[in-house]
Amino acid sequence: MSQFTRRHLLGIRDLSADEITHLLDTAETFRDVSRREIKKVPALRGRTVINLFFEPSTRTRTSFEIAAKRLSADAVNISVSSSSVTKGETLLDTARNLEAMAPDCIVIRHSMAGAPQHLARMCNSPIVNAGDGSHEHPTQALLDALTIREYKGRISGLNVAIIGDILHSRVARSNVYLLTKLGANVRVAGPGTLAPAEFADLVEHGLRVESSVNAAVEGADVLMVLRLQRERQDAAFFPSMREYAVHYGLHADHLDRAARDAIVMHPGPMNRGIEISSEIADGGKSLILDQVTNGVAVRMAVLYLLAGGAHLPAEDELVPKGNGKQQRKGSS
Ligand code: CP
Repeated sequence: MSQFTRRHLLGIRDLSADEITHLLDTAETFRDVSRREIKKVPALRGRTVINLFFEPSTRTRTSFEIAAKRLSADAVNISVSSSSVTKGETLLDTARNLEAMAPDCIVIRHSMAGAPQHLARMCNSPIVNAGDGSHEHPTQALLDALTIREYKGRISGLNVAIIGDILHSRVARSNVYLLTKLGANVRVAGPGTLAPAEFADLVEHGLRVESSVNAAVEGADVLMVLRLQRERQDAAFFPSMREYAVHYGLHADHLDRAARDAIVMHPGPMNRGIEISSEIADGGKSLILDQVTNGVAVRMAVLYLLAGGAHLPAEDELVPKGNGKQQRKGSS
């Protein structure tokens, strides 16, 4: 039986295909909890999860909080504006002070690539990377994989096109690592200046760097669109937003080139009309909100494995405390 025995989740790059599959299998066991009337199980009762967010977030932060609460853990949210970092405290001092209150897991998002690795080296608590600069966003790649598996039944052998601002995208990095490890054929396309040099190594493992969106989407089973990260553009990588939209946005004619049953994904937040048209984002092939739904199951799995146990959850950890059965209103 596979296991996930790591102390931290810092990125996808270092994980094996077996570890990734174990995380996805565990997430699948938790997915059902969010479909119940009473969305709570006792798996992490008495544990504490701290969400330390130094960058804005809607999906990831809320998702980690909901995941912790659905596992019966206590969730504490700290954002930079309400922390003593604004008074000059270092990230490490902040983390060590939080650690002195005995949390069972610290989830961190930071604009600096490597911030979670730094805390993992210096602190005793399990650390989860919720997105570090342009480096990695492991739980996003896991929830994307869970969504692909749900709709396609597999990942191995699928043709996946990742389109857009590859250079600045931690989502692209984590997804390229994960999808290639699980045997997908991955093609990336974005402005030539926005393809990271480190992906050259992955070409040996089947990654194709395409020069146009048309080439990347040809016959693709999965179209993964990236957000144009305006906040990380410290140089003029392309002439204007309008030109980016024309050359690197996903349009209806791209869907005609893809496989007939292709699915469309986007990690959010979306720049509608720039990297994706509203017609596609809200269309029948879009799984954008399914990705968000699966994010809770993935984060439940990650928190459970790091702050709970290394095995798949036992039957009694997946039923609400009480009579051991799911109670419906009006049932006796
Ligand atoms: N996909 C993602 O990380 O979204 P948030 O920035 O809202 O967390």
